[in-house]
Amino acid sequence: MRRLPPQQTQAALAHHCVNASLPGATDRITAGLRDSGLVVLTGVASRTDVLALAARIMTVAAHRDSDSDGLTTLRDTRRHAGRAGFAGLGNGGLEPHTERSGIPVPPRLMLLVCGQAAESGGDSILVDGRAVHADLLTRSPTSVRVLSQRCTAYFGGGDGHPSQVFTVYDDHRVAVRLRLDGLARFSPIVQPHLPVLRTALQRQQVRLPLLPGQGYVLDNSRWLHARTAFTGDRVCWRALGQPRFVLPEGFVPDAAARRAVPVGGSGQW
Ligand SMILES: [Fe+2]
Repeated sequence: MRRLPPQQTQAALAHHCVNASLPGATDRITAGLRDSGLVVLTGVASRTDVLALAARIMTVAAHRDSDSDGLTTLRDTRRHAGRAGFAGLGNGGLEPHTERSGIPVPPRLMLLVCGQAAESGGDSILVDGRAVHADLLTRSPTSVRVLSQRCTAYFGGGDGHPSQVFTVYDDHRVAVRLRLDGLARFSPIVQPHLPVLRTALQRQQVRLPLLPGQGYVLDNSRWLHARTAFTGDRVCWRALGQPRFVLPEGFVPDAAARRAVPVGGSGQW
């Protein structure tokens, strides 16, 4: 992963930041999610605070790895190394992905908060799907068209889900769904465009080192998340769920990038 200078990372995400412990935080978080699909959080001091914040903004959905309260404790269990679909419970790096990409309806919101920082590494990497879409529209509109063709990807194991990287809705909003690990398969027409996609992901990624009490909440239909490899006893708490407020799916494509597409260069985007 390309390492951005710390000041560049902070500058890129500064306008997304909300202190969750201050009055009015819930309204600022919901407004931020509607506006840009991402809010960077400070002031979430404990697991209890994570649970309380999650309950204010989403209906928490328990799943395979979650604890009895619905939160998932992400740490290196040393029992999941090399197991497909369990990479989040190891200490390796993770490529940009949609959370739970292999189920028909992935959770719309993902809240992640650092409880204990790693000794080294373990930075969060965030990638705005709207920025990737605009990047590709400008540089490789054919890739956008191919990556938007229906059922050209399959995410998950035997009980996974057929999809496409970009889903274009009737109102022209676009949602992203992606994974690039061993549980992703792509049709032969998509495969030549994966290197272009990976390069765009690298260009648009933002690195977010997290200290205890810091985290983020993102719209899982717009933003991809990743992680660098780490050493030490890094602990993060994660909540997944559906928003308790109106949140349109995906994003409105970047208008300037749409205008930059050469005539006949894209067709559907
Ligand atoms: Fe994840």
